Amino acid sequence: MTSLSTPLTISVIGCGYLGAVHAAAMAELGHRVIGIDVDKAKIDLLAAGRPPFYEPGLPELLTSATASGRLTFSTDIAAAAEATVHFVAVGTPQRAGSNAADLTYVDAAVESLLPHLSEGDLVVGKSTVPVGTAERLAAVVSGAGVGATLAWNPEFLREGFAVKDTISPDRLVYGVGEGDEHAESVLDAVYAAALAAGTPKVVTGYATAELVKVSANAFLATKISFINAMAEVAEATGADVTQLADAIGFDARIGRRFLNAGLGFGGGCLPKDIRGFMARAEELGVEQALSFLSEVDSINLRRRGRMVDLATEVLDGDVSGKRIAVLGLAFKPDSDDVRDSPALDVAVRLAELGAIVVATDPEAVETSRARHPELTYVSTAVEAAQDADVVLLLTEWKQYRDLDPAELTSVVSGRALLDGRNCVNPVVWREAGWTYRALGRP
Ligand code: UDX
Repeated sequence: MTSLSTPLTISVIGCGYLGAVHAAAMAELGHRVIGIDVDKAKIDLLAAGRPPFYEPGLPELLTSATASGRLTFSTDIAAAAEATVHFVAVGTPQRAGSNAADLTYVDAAVESLLPHLSEGDLVVGKSTVPVGTAERLAAVVSGAGVGATLAWNPEFLREGFAVKDTISPDRLVYGVGEGDEHAESVLDAVYAAALAAGTPKVVTGYATAELVKVSANAFLATKISFINAMAEVAEATGADVTQLADAIGFDARIGRRFLNAGLGFGGGCLPKDIRGFMARAEELGVEQALSFLSEVDSINLRRRGRMVDLATEVLDGDVSGKRIAVLGLAFKPDSDDVRDSPALDVAVRLAELGAIVVATDPEAVETSRARHPELTYVSTAVEAAQDADVVLLLTEWKQYRDLDPAELTSVVSGRALLDGRNCVNPVVWREAGWTYRALGRP
């Protein structure tokens, strides 16, 4: 039976981005945590305090948590038997050849956990899943007949801020089975520190909890595509989308955050989540309700094409044989993640058109090389810009936002900067004698 005296003993099944951060953060909060993953190489790295991905603050957290003895790792699911709370944090990627989410890993994680559950244990889903999954898995857990139950507790962490978002979330959402008060008490014990600090909590049913996650991501994606649609209109009219965003953003009902026009959204969540949401809506017979998300997706993908067109325009109609410097490959700054990265996509498309692309990124060169070994990679912006006919700024890392045009002027062959993230001051670059072009700006 679960003892609610804290610290709790927690297992985290799946030590990818979400699970590794969650495991380390729960240990930081004082709980005893066992991180479990089938991938031995990943477990070895995490146990050595070296996450297999770039996330600021995580190596320090892993090192202190493992040194304290509160955080251990295993490849053996049987290690979960010691724990009373079991977080399922495995991936739900987009299924090959379909928009739907692939639930293979979630199903397998819950199945593998069943023989190790005891009375009063709580299985807590964290993965982003199609609505209806939690109810189905609740039946699987109760079917084990040991008196364990299931809750769904979606995660809203942002890459680059994952540690802070996990330790001090802006809200907690518990999806619990009808009448399962025990589940709420267990989650309250897990998150005692955040709750004491005033984090709001919404306790609801499974379906709402699952929908909170995907609808939050759908809203964010829509906000980005909205401003990128305005950028398209701005391009046709000579208007400036960044000033437009500032002006409408002053309306508190709209807000300026997530209104940055540019190359659009990528990463491991937003693109796949809106597609999975549409696929699920279709199964439920409510596809019309989400048909706008297909437009959100199209607007987003069109921005990449527009960037390629802009480069072609600046290079007098043909990129073939031209040297193009690409600054930024990650889907956003402070990350080495290139899953569905707009920046990497643009670099690849230009190379396919015959351009000589020389790309750099502070953290994402190796992750990019693994996917696209055909591109040329260098370490710094200055190296990338050597003899370049045009420079493309595609991920707004601080070091690129702060670039002094003088650093590149002496090495480039053509002084043209295409700002895919609307992140540098055009006046500064133009005054330094550069052609400055951006998405949605004159
Ligand atoms: C997102 C959600 O923000 C998070 O709550 C959820 O848990 C997981 O998905 P993340 O994928 O880390 O987090 O990235 P986010 O910061 O949301 O950015 C997503 C993409 O949108 C990036 O490619 C970013 O460059 C782009 N973006 C963001 C814009 O193009 N414009 C903006 O104004 C904001």
